[in-house]
Amino acid sequence: MGLMKPDLSVQIGSIKMKNPVTVASGTFGFGQEMADFYDLGRLGAITVKGTSLDPWPGNDYPRTVETPSGMLNAIGLQNDGLDAFMNEKLPFLRQFDVPVIVNVVGQSLEEYIRVSEALGKTEGIHGLELNVSCPNVKKGCMAFGNTCEGIAEVVSAVKSVTDLTLITKLSPNVTDVVSIAKAAVEAGSDALSLINTLLGTAIDPWKRKFRLANVTGGLSGPAVKPVALRMVWQVAQAVDVPIIGMGGIMNAMDAVEFMLAGADAVAVGTGNFVNPMAALEIVDGIEEYLRSTNVSDVKSIVGAVNS
Ligand SMILES: Cc1cc2nc3c(=O)[nH]c(=O)nc-3n(C[C@H](O)[C@H](O)[C@H](O)COP(=O)(O)O)c2cc1C
Repeated sequence: MGLMKPDLSVQIGSIKMKNPVTVASGTFGFGQEMADFYDLGRLGAITVKGTSLDPWPGNDYPRTVETPSGMLNAIGLQNDGLDAFMNEKLPFLRQFDVPVIVNVVGQSLEEYIRVSEALGKTEGIHGLELNVSCPNVKKGCMAFGNTCEGIAEVVSAVKSVTDLTLITKLSPNVTDVVSIAKAAVEAGSDALSLINTLLGTAIDPWKRKFRLANVTGGLSGPAVKPVALRMVWQVAQAVDVPIIGMGGIMNAMDAVEFMLAGADAVAVGTGNFVNPMAALEIVDGIEEYLRSTNVSDVKSIVGAVNS
């Protein structure tokens, strides 16, 4: 058994992933820079940067700060808009044998609907990740992800205009993530991803100034991993849809922990900035873990943590 190649494949809705590793939206661009480092077709899926209907300029600089065991970002979802994505980014991604998940953002319900509907009619897109949890934009977005009613409204509206697998990305900046998760699933979400960043800030004591132009930003990286792991575990107990776990995954053992907690797949975010090879090394490391523990199918470790 130890010599057999373990089955690494997983499925998120109708998205067939050859292994359980994708990348976290906003940390991998549209894959173009990362394709210099390795064959993108080796990933389980690619999740691209948040895409809105019209171009968004993003927030003022500085937009990122390093923090102990993590980073704060307030990019503000800068992107070139839907048309630019379709015409300039998607053709590049289509060359690779890998499912593409598009992260969708909007400032209104109408915008989520229009972007999702258009993407659903486009070849080469396999899933939508609804970003209703970005802490860095003033309007929309967070307003939906913060309440059960808000999340249900946006999920059911998008669900009615597309057949693509719908993944709702949950915010950790809520009192009860489980009730929000349940509301998203009841409204028709095919899968969930969590966590987005944790709202934080940083101050320069000598200048007596906030370190981010936006004042607050989203915390990511190893600092958030215990919170993310706890939320994935709680949500996995409460819902029956697949979960993509993320938050501080830097190596294969981090990824295995998320799967044991109940994640069907994992996403690597800040880890890509530290080591561009991180996601690929995690694919290989998961395989090695399965071999060394005599597990023939990665799906069998999902939720297999003992209490
Ligand atoms: C620079 C940066 C940009 C991000 N942009 C997005 C985005 O466009 N859409 C989104 O849903 N999440 C975005 N995120 C959140 C990540 O996808 C992920 O949920 C979070 O960083 C936790 O994972 P990590 O600790 O592995 O980075 C961004 C995170 C970072 C660090």
